[in-house]
Amino acid sequence: MTQVLVTGGAGFIGSNFVRWALNARPDWHITTLDKLTYAGRLENLAAVMDSPRHRFVHGDIADAAVATPLVCESNLVVHFAAETHVDRSIQSAADFITTDVIGTFVLLEAARQAPRLRRFVQISTDEVYGSVPEGASRETDELRPRNPYSASKAGADRLAYSYWATYDVPVIITRASNNYGPNQFPEKVIPLFVTNAIDGVPLPLYGDGLNVRDWLHVEDHCRAIDLVIEEGTNGEVYNIGGGNEIANVDLTHRILELAGRPLSLIRPVADRPGHDRRYALDTTKLRQLGWAPEVPFEDGLAATVDWYRQNESWWRPIKEQDQAYRAYHQAQYGNRPGT
Ligand code: NAD
Ligand code: TYD
Repeated sequence: MTQVLVTGGAGFIGSNFVRWALNARPDWHITTLDKLTYAGRLENLAAVMDSPRHRFVHGDIADAAVATPLVCESNLVVHFAAETHVDRSIQSAADFITTDVIGTFVLLEAARQAPRLRRFVQISTDEVYGSVPEGASRETDELRPRNPYSASKAGADRLAYSYWATYDVPVIITRASNNYGPNQFPEKVIPLFVTNAIDGVPLPLYGDGLNVRDWLHVEDHCRAIDLVIEEGTNGEVYNIGGGNEIANVDLTHRILELAGRPLSLIRPVADRPGHDRRYALDTTKLRQLGWAPEVPFEDGLAATVDWYRQNESWWRPIKEQDQAYRAYHQAQYGNRPGT
Protein backbone atom coordinates (compact mmCIF):
# COMPACT_ATOMS: atom_id res chain seq x y z
CA MET A 1 0.00 0.00 0.00
CA THR A 2 1.18 3.51 -0.82
CA GLN A 3 -0.17 6.32 1.36
CA VAL A 4 -0.58 9.48 -0.73
CA LEU A 5 -1.41 13.00 0.37
CA VAL A 6 -2.92 15.21 -2.34
CA THR A 7 -3.26 18.85 -1.35
CA GLY A 8 -5.80 20.92 -3.27
CA GLY A 9 -7.52 17.75 -4.45
CA ALA A 10 -10.95 19.42 -4.63
CA GLY A 11 -9.75 21.86 -7.30
CA PHE A 12 -9.50 21.41 -11.04
CA ILE A 13 -6.23 19.51 -11.59
CA GLY A 14 -6.16 17.98 -8.11
CA SER A 15 -9.59 16.36 -8.48
CA ASN A 16 -8.75 15.07 -11.94
CA PHE A 17 -5.55 13.63 -10.47
CA VAL A 18 -7.31 11.97 -7.51
CA ARG A 19 -9.88 10.35 -9.82
CA TRP A 20 -7.21 9.31 -12.32
CA ALA A 21 -4.83 7.91 -9.70
CA LEU A 22 -7.43 5.90 -7.77
CA ASN A 23 -8.21 4.22 -11.07
CA ALA A 24 -4.65 3.79 -12.34
CA ARG A 25 -2.91 2.94 -9.06
CA PRO A 26 -4.82 0.23 -7.17
CA ASP A 27 -2.32 0.21 -4.29
CA TRP A 28 -2.69 3.94 -3.55
CA HIS A 29 -4.68 5.17 -0.58
CA ILE A 30 -5.24 8.88 -1.06
CA THR A 31 -5.96 11.57 1.50
CA THR A 32 -7.15 14.83 -0.01
CA LEU A 33 -6.39 17.91 2.10
CA ASP A 34 -8.31 20.93 0.86
CA LYS A 35 -9.44 24.21 2.37
CA LEU A 36 -12.44 24.40 0.01
CA THR A 37 -11.81 27.95 -1.09
CA TYR A 38 -14.03 29.33 -3.86
CA ALA A 39 -12.11 27.07 -6.28
CA GLY A 40 -12.37 23.89 -4.21
CA ARG A 41 -15.59 21.98 -4.81
CA LEU A 42 -16.52 18.76 -3.07
CA GLU A 43 -18.70 17.82 -6.05
CA ASN A 44 -15.43 17.42 -8.02
CA LEU A 45 -14.72 14.43 -5.77
CA ALA A 46 -18.26 12.99 -5.73
CA ALA A 47 -17.15 9.94 -7.73
CA VAL A 48 -14.52 8.95 -5.14
CA MET A 49 -16.10 10.06 -1.85
CA ASP A 50 -17.30 6.53 -1.09
CA SER A 51 -14.08 4.85 -2.14
CA PRO A 52 -12.43 2.92 0.72
CA ARG A 53 -9.11 4.15 -0.73
CA HIS A 54 -9.97 7.85 -0.41
CA ARG A 55 -10.35 10.14 2.57
CA PHE A 56 -11.20 13.83 2.51
CA VAL A 57 -9.82 16.21 5.13
CA HIS A 58 -11.11 19.79 5.21
CA GLY A 59 -8.20 21.97 6.24
CA ASP A 60 -5.59 24.59 5.40
CA ILE A 61 -2.09 23.58 4.27
CA ALA A 62 -0.77 26.58 6.20
CA ASP A 63 -2.16 25.12 9.45
CA ALA A 64 0.69 22.96 10.75
CA ALA A 65 -1.55 21.24 13.30
CA VAL A 66 -3.61 19.76 10.46
CA ALA A 67 -0.98 19.40 7.74
CA THR A 68 1.99 17.96 9.68
CA PRO A 69 0.45 14.63 10.81
CA LEU A 70 -0.92 14.07 7.30
CA VAL A 71 2.49 14.63 5.69
CA CYS A 72 4.17 12.47 8.34
CA GLU A 73 1.98 9.44 7.59
CA SER A 74 2.54 9.69 3.81
CA ASN A 75 4.81 7.93 1.31
CA LEU A 76 4.00 10.49 -1.38
CA VAL A 77 2.87 14.10 -1.26
CA VAL A 78 1.49 15.69 -4.42
CA HIS A 79 1.10 19.36 -3.62
CA PHE A 80 -1.44 21.12 -5.85
CA ALA A 81 -3.05 23.45 -3.29
CA ALA A 82 -2.64 27.08 -4.30
CA GLU A 83 -4.35 30.29 -5.18
CA THR A 84 -4.14 30.03 -8.94
CA HIS A 85 -5.79 32.84 -10.88
CA VAL A 86 -3.53 35.60 -12.22
CA ASP A 87 -6.32 38.19 -12.42
CA ARG A 88 -7.24 37.61 -8.77
CA SER A 89 -3.58 37.96 -7.79
CA ILE A 90 -3.56 41.34 -9.51
CA GLN A 91 -6.68 42.40 -7.60
CA SER A 92 -5.17 41.23 -4.29
CA ALA A 93 -2.01 39.20 -3.68
CA ALA A 94 -2.29 38.43 0.05
CA ASP A 95 -3.88 34.97 -0.20
CA PHE A 96 -1.29 34.00 -2.82
CA ILE A 97 1.55 34.70 -0.43
CA THR A 98 -0.18 32.96 2.47
CA THR A 99 -1.11 29.77 0.63
CA ASP A 100 1.40 29.43 -2.19
CA VAL A 101 4.49 30.47 -0.22
CA ILE A 102 3.75 30.02 3.50
CA GLY A 103 1.50 26.99 2.94
CA THR A 104 4.25 25.31 0.94
CA PHE A 105 6.77 26.17 3.68
CA VAL A 106 4.54 24.47 6.29
CA LEU A 107 4.30 21.30 4.17
CA LEU A 108 8.06 21.26 3.55
CA GLU A 109 8.81 21.65 7.26
CA ALA A 110 6.52 18.69 7.90
CA ALA A 111 8.26 16.74 5.13
CA ARG A 112 11.59 17.10 6.98
CA GLN A 113 10.13 14.99 9.77
CA ALA A 114 8.21 12.48 7.63
CA PRO A 115 9.79 9.06 8.20
CA ARG A 116 8.41 7.21 5.17
CA LEU A 117 8.28 9.99 2.56
CA ARG A 118 9.49 8.85 -0.89
CA ARG A 119 8.51 11.88 -3.00
CA PHE A 120 7.26 15.41 -2.47
CA VAL A 121 5.97 16.66 -5.81
CA GLN A 122 5.85 20.44 -5.94
CA ILE A 123 3.32 21.34 -8.65
CA SER A 124 4.81 24.49 -10.14
CA THR A 125 3.97 26.22 -13.43
CA ASP A 126 5.49 27.41 -16.70
CA GLU A 127 4.55 30.93 -15.58
CA VAL A 128 7.59 31.02 -13.28
CA TYR A 129 9.79 31.48 -16.38
CA GLY A 130 7.94 34.69 -17.25
CA SER A 131 7.15 35.75 -20.78
CA VAL A 132 9.14 33.92 -23.49
CA PRO A 133 9.28 35.95 -26.71
CA GLU A 134 10.86 33.13 -28.71
CA GLY A 135 12.15 29.60 -28.28
CA ALA A 136 11.09 27.42 -25.36
CA SER A 137 11.94 27.46 -21.65
CA ARG A 138 14.26 24.77 -20.38
CA GLU A 139 14.34 23.61 -16.78
CA THR A 140 17.68 25.35 -16.22
CA ASP A 141 16.48 28.75 -17.49
CA GLU A 142 16.32 31.73 -15.22
CA LEU A 143 12.98 32.37 -13.49
CA ARG A 144 11.49 35.78 -14.26
CA PRO A 145 7.94 35.76 -12.87
CA ARG A 146 6.07 38.97 -13.62
CA ASN A 147 2.79 38.85 -11.70
CA PRO A 148 1.97 38.10 -8.03
CA TYR A 149 0.66 34.59 -8.85
CA SER A 150 3.74 33.51 -10.78
CA ALA A 151 6.05 35.21 -8.28
CA SER A 152 4.48 33.35 -5.36
CA LYS A 153 4.68 30.08 -7.33
CA ALA A 154 8.34 30.78 -8.11
CA GLY A 155 8.95 31.35 -4.39
CA ALA A 156 7.35 27.98 -3.58
CA ASP A 157 9.23 26.27 -6.42
CA ARG A 158 12.62 27.47 -5.16
CA LEU A 159 11.72 26.90 -1.51
CA ALA A 160 10.91 23.28 -2.35
CA TYR A 161 14.21 22.96 -4.20
CA SER A 162 16.07 24.40 -1.21
CA TYR A 163 14.55 21.75 1.08
CA TRP A 164 15.98 19.07 -1.20
CA ALA A 165 19.40 20.75 -1.40
CA THR A 166 19.57 21.56 2.31
CA TYR A 167 17.64 18.83 4.11
CA ASP A 168 17.46 16.07 1.52
CA VAL A 169 13.65 16.19 1.38
CA PRO A 170 12.77 14.05 -1.69
CA VAL A 171 11.42 16.96 -3.73
CA ILE A 172 10.58 16.82 -7.44
CA ILE A 173 9.31 19.97 -9.14
CA THR A 174 7.01 19.95 -12.17
CA ARG A 175 6.29 23.01 -14.30
CA ALA A 176 3.22 22.48 -16.45
CA SER A 177 1.74 24.70 -19.11
CA ASN A 178 -1.90 25.88 -19.14
CA ASN A 179 -4.25 22.99 -18.40
CA TYR A 180 -7.74 22.46 -19.76
CA GLY A 181 -10.41 19.80 -19.29
CA PRO A 182 -13.42 19.01 -17.08
CA ASN A 183 -14.08 20.74 -13.73
CA GLN A 184 -12.01 23.86 -14.39
CA PHE A 185 -13.43 26.84 -12.50
CA PRO A 186 -15.17 29.30 -14.84
CA GLU A 187 -12.72 32.14 -14.21
CA LYS A 188 -9.93 30.68 -16.41
CA VAL A 189 -10.19 31.52 -20.07
CA ILE A 190 -11.38 28.22 -21.55
CA PRO A 191 -14.25 27.49 -19.12
CA LEU A 192 -15.19 31.19 -18.99
CA PHE A 193 -15.35 31.48 -22.77
CA VAL A 194 -17.04 28.09 -23.28
CA THR A 195 -19.80 28.84 -20.77
CA ASN A 196 -20.25 32.37 -22.13
CA ALA A 197 -20.48 30.91 -25.64
CA ILE A 198 -23.08 28.36 -24.50
CA ASP A 199 -25.11 31.26 -23.10
CA GLY A 200 -24.52 33.48 -26.14
CA VAL A 201 -22.96 36.29 -24.08
CA PRO A 202 -19.76 38.20 -25.03
CA LEU A 203 -16.28 36.70 -24.63
CA PRO A 204 -13.95 39.35 -23.10
CA LEU A 205 -10.68 38.97 -25.01
CA TYR A 206 -7.80 40.88 -23.40
CA GLY A 207 -5.68 43.29 -25.43
CA ASP A 208 -4.95 42.36 -29.04
CA GLY A 209 -5.71 38.67 -28.43
CA LEU A 210 -2.25 37.67 -29.66
CA ASN A 211 -0.92 36.36 -26.35
CA VAL A 212 0.09 32.73 -26.74
CA ARG A 213 -0.46 29.84 -24.33
CA ASP A 214 0.52 26.16 -24.72
CA TRP A 215 -2.48 23.99 -23.79
CA LEU A 216 -2.09 20.70 -21.92
CA HIS A 217 -4.99 18.32 -21.37
CA VAL A 218 -5.37 17.62 -17.67
CA GLU A 219 -5.17 13.84 -18.22
CA ASP A 220 -1.84 14.19 -19.99
CA HIS A 221 -0.74 16.22 -16.96
CA CYS A 222 -1.86 13.44 -14.57
CA ARG A 223 0.12 10.83 -16.51
CA ALA A 224 3.20 13.04 -16.43
CA ILE A 225 3.01 13.53 -12.66
CA ASP A 226 2.62 9.78 -12.20
CA LEU A 227 5.67 9.17 -14.39
CA VAL A 228 7.94 11.56 -12.53
CA ILE A 229 6.85 9.97 -9.24
CA GLU A 230 7.94 6.58 -10.59
CA GLU A 231 10.91 7.50 -12.78
CA GLY A 232 12.02 11.02 -11.86
CA THR A 233 15.06 12.05 -9.83
CA ASN A 234 14.84 13.96 -6.57
CA GLY A 235 16.03 17.56 -6.79
CA GLU A 236 15.12 17.77 -10.48
CA VAL A 237 12.65 19.97 -12.33
CA TYR A 238 10.46 18.60 -15.17
CA ASN A 239 8.61 20.74 -17.70
CA ILE A 240 5.22 19.38 -18.81
CA GLY A 241 3.92 21.08 -21.96
CA GLY A 242 1.12 20.04 -24.27
CA GLY A 243 2.84 21.26 -27.45
CA ASN A 244 -0.33 23.13 -28.42
CA GLU A 245 0.67 26.76 -28.76
CA ILE A 246 -2.18 28.95 -29.87
CA ALA A 247 -2.95 32.68 -29.73
CA ASN A 248 -5.94 33.60 -27.59
CA VAL A 249 -7.86 34.99 -30.54
CA ASP A 250 -7.51 31.72 -32.45
CA LEU A 251 -8.52 29.74 -29.37
CA THR A 252 -11.58 31.98 -29.06
CA HIS A 253 -12.51 31.32 -32.69
CA ARG A 254 -12.30 27.57 -32.12
CA ILE A 255 -14.46 27.73 -29.00
CA LEU A 256 -17.13 29.75 -30.81
CA GLU A 257 -17.03 27.35 -33.74
CA LEU A 258 -17.45 24.32 -31.43
CA ALA A 259 -20.30 26.04 -29.59
CA GLY A 260 -21.97 27.03 -32.87
CA ARG A 261 -21.87 30.75 -32.03
CA PRO A 262 -20.88 33.76 -34.19
CA LEU A 263 -17.48 35.51 -34.00
CA SER A 264 -19.39 38.71 -33.24
CA LEU A 265 -19.54 37.50 -29.62
CA ILE A 266 -15.84 38.39 -29.23
CA ARG A 267 -15.51 41.53 -27.12
CA PRO A 268 -12.00 43.03 -27.16
CA VAL A 269 -11.37 44.59 -23.73
CA ALA A 270 -8.54 46.41 -21.97
CA ASP A 271 -5.49 44.22 -21.45
CA ARG A 272 -4.42 42.56 -18.21
CA PRO A 273 -1.60 44.58 -16.55
CA GLY A 274 1.78 42.88 -17.00
CA HIS A 275 0.17 40.35 -19.36
CA ASP A 276 2.80 37.74 -20.27
CA ARG A 277 2.94 37.55 -24.05
CA ARG A 278 3.88 33.94 -24.51
CA TYR A 279 4.71 30.77 -22.61
CA ALA A 280 6.44 27.81 -24.27
CA LEU A 281 8.17 24.79 -22.76
CA ASP A 282 10.96 22.54 -23.93
CA THR A 283 9.78 19.08 -22.78
CA THR A 284 12.80 17.05 -23.92
CA LYS A 285 13.67 16.02 -20.37
CA LEU A 286 10.24 14.52 -19.64
CA ARG A 287 10.03 12.90 -23.08
CA GLN A 288 13.31 11.15 -22.30
CA LEU A 289 11.52 9.51 -19.37
CA GLY A 290 8.97 8.17 -21.87
CA TRP A 291 6.11 10.69 -21.72
CA ALA A 292 4.33 12.30 -24.65
CA PRO A 293 0.97 14.05 -24.67
CA GLU A 294 -1.79 11.79 -25.95
CA VAL A 295 -4.81 14.05 -26.25
CA PRO A 296 -4.89 15.98 -29.56
CA PHE A 297 -5.94 19.56 -28.85
CA GLU A 298 -8.90 19.53 -31.27
CA ASP A 299 -10.33 16.40 -29.60
CA GLY A 300 -9.62 17.60 -26.06
CA LEU A 301 -11.18 21.00 -26.69
CA ALA A 302 -14.27 19.49 -28.32
CA ALA A 303 -14.66 17.06 -25.39
CA THR A 304 -14.25 19.95 -22.94
CA VAL A 305 -16.96 22.00 -24.66
CA ASP A 306 -19.21 18.91 -24.50
CA TRP A 307 -18.44 18.46 -20.80
CA TYR A 308 -19.57 22.02 -20.02
CA ARG A 309 -22.68 21.51 -22.19
CA GLN A 310 -23.57 18.35 -20.29
CA ASN A 311 -22.67 19.62 -16.84
CA GLU A 312 -24.53 22.91 -16.55
CA SER A 313 -25.54 21.87 -13.04
CA TRP A 314 -21.83 22.12 -12.13
CA TRP A 315 -21.09 25.63 -13.42
CA ARG A 316 -24.41 27.48 -13.67
CA PRO A 317 -24.91 27.82 -9.89
CA ILE A 318 -21.37 29.23 -9.62
CA LYS A 319 -21.87 31.78 -12.38
CA GLU A 320 -25.46 32.74 -11.53
CA GLN A 321 -25.93 32.31 -7.77
CA ASP A 322 -22.53 32.46 -6.09
CA GLN A 323 -22.28 35.99 -4.68
CA ALA A 324 -18.49 35.83 -4.30
CA TYR A 325 -18.10 34.80 -7.94
CA ARG A 326 -20.42 37.55 -9.08
CA ALA A 327 -18.51 40.13 -7.04
CA TYR A 328 -15.21 38.94 -8.53
CA HIS A 329 -16.66 38.98 -12.04
CA GLN A 330 -18.06 42.48 -11.58
CA ALA A 331 -14.71 43.78 -10.29
CA GLN A 332 -12.83 42.11 -13.14
CA TYR A 333 -15.12 42.83 -16.09
CA GLY A 334 -17.84 45.25 -14.89
CA ASN A 335 -16.13 48.51 -15.78
CA ARG A 336 -13.49 47.16 -18.13
CA PRO A 337 -13.26 49.43 -21.14
CA GLY A 338 -13.49 47.97 -24.63
CA THR A 339 -10.63 48.48 -27.08
P1 NAD B 1 -7.66 25.44 -8.60
O1 NAD B 1 -7.71 26.89 -8.28
O2 NAD B 1 -8.72 24.84 -9.47
O3 NAD B 1 -7.67 24.58 -7.24
C1 NAD B 1 -6.88 24.91 -6.14
C2 NAD B 1 -7.32 24.02 -4.98
O4 NAD B 1 -6.49 24.32 -3.84
C3 NAD B 1 -8.76 24.26 -4.54
O5 NAD B 1 -9.42 23.03 -4.30
C4 NAD B 1 -8.62 25.05 -3.25
O6 NAD B 1 -9.72 24.87 -2.36
C5 NAD B 1 -7.33 24.48 -2.70
N1 NAD B 1 -6.67 25.39 -1.76
C6 NAD B 1 -6.39 26.71 -1.96
N2 NAD B 1 -5.79 27.21 -0.86
C7 NAD B 1 -5.66 26.17 0.02
C8 NAD B 1 -5.09 26.06 1.31
N3 NAD B 1 -4.55 27.12 1.92
N4 NAD B 1 -5.11 24.86 1.92
C9 NAD B 1 -5.66 23.77 1.31
N5 NAD B 1 -6.23 23.83 0.08
C10 NAD B 1 -6.22 25.02 -0.55
O7 NAD B 1 -6.22 25.18 -9.18
P2 NAD B 1 -5.71 24.25 -10.37
O8 NAD B 1 -5.89 24.96 -11.66
O9 NAD B 1 -6.27 22.90 -10.20
O10 NAD B 1 -4.15 24.24 -10.08
C11 NAD B 1 -3.59 23.26 -9.20
C12 NAD B 1 -2.09 23.46 -9.12
O11 NAD B 1 -1.51 23.35 -10.41
C13 NAD B 1 -1.67 24.82 -8.59
O12 NAD B 1 -0.54 24.66 -7.76
C14 NAD B 1 -1.29 25.61 -9.83
O13 NAD B 1 -0.35 26.61 -9.54
C15 NAD B 1 -0.72 24.51 -10.70
N6 NAD B 1 -0.80 24.73 -12.15
C16 NAD B 1 -2.01 25.03 -12.71
C17 NAD B 1 -2.09 25.19 -14.10
C18 NAD B 1 -3.42 25.48 -14.77
O14 NAD B 1 -3.43 25.70 -15.98
N7 NAD B 1 -4.54 25.46 -14.07
C19 NAD B 1 -0.94 25.06 -14.89
C20 NAD B 1 0.28 24.76 -14.27
C21 NAD B 1 0.32 24.58 -12.89
P1 TYD C 1 -5.93 32.37 -17.87
O1 TYD C 1 -6.89 31.26 -18.12
O2 TYD C 1 -6.23 33.37 -16.82
O3 TYD C 1 -4.51 31.67 -17.62
P2 TYD C 1 -3.03 32.34 -17.44
O4 TYD C 1 -3.14 33.79 -17.36
O5 TYD C 1 -2.62 31.74 -16.15
O6 TYD C 1 -2.27 31.85 -18.62
O7 TYD C 1 -5.69 33.17 -19.23
C1 TYD C 1 -5.22 32.52 -20.38
C2 TYD C 1 -5.04 33.57 -21.46
O8 TYD C 1 -6.33 34.11 -21.78
C3 TYD C 1 -4.20 34.74 -20.99
O9 TYD C 1 -3.37 35.19 -22.07
C4 TYD C 1 -5.21 35.80 -20.63
C5 TYD C 1 -6.35 35.53 -21.57
N1 TYD C 1 -7.70 35.88 -21.05
C6 TYD C 1 -8.55 36.72 -21.77
O10 TYD C 1 -8.21 37.16 -22.88
N2 TYD C 1 -9.77 37.02 -21.26
C7 TYD C 1 -10.19 36.54 -20.04
O11 TYD C 1 -11.32 36.87 -19.61
C8 TYD C 1 -9.30 35.68 -19.30
C9 TYD C 1 -9.70 35.13 -17.98
C10 TYD C 1 -8.06 35.38 -19.84
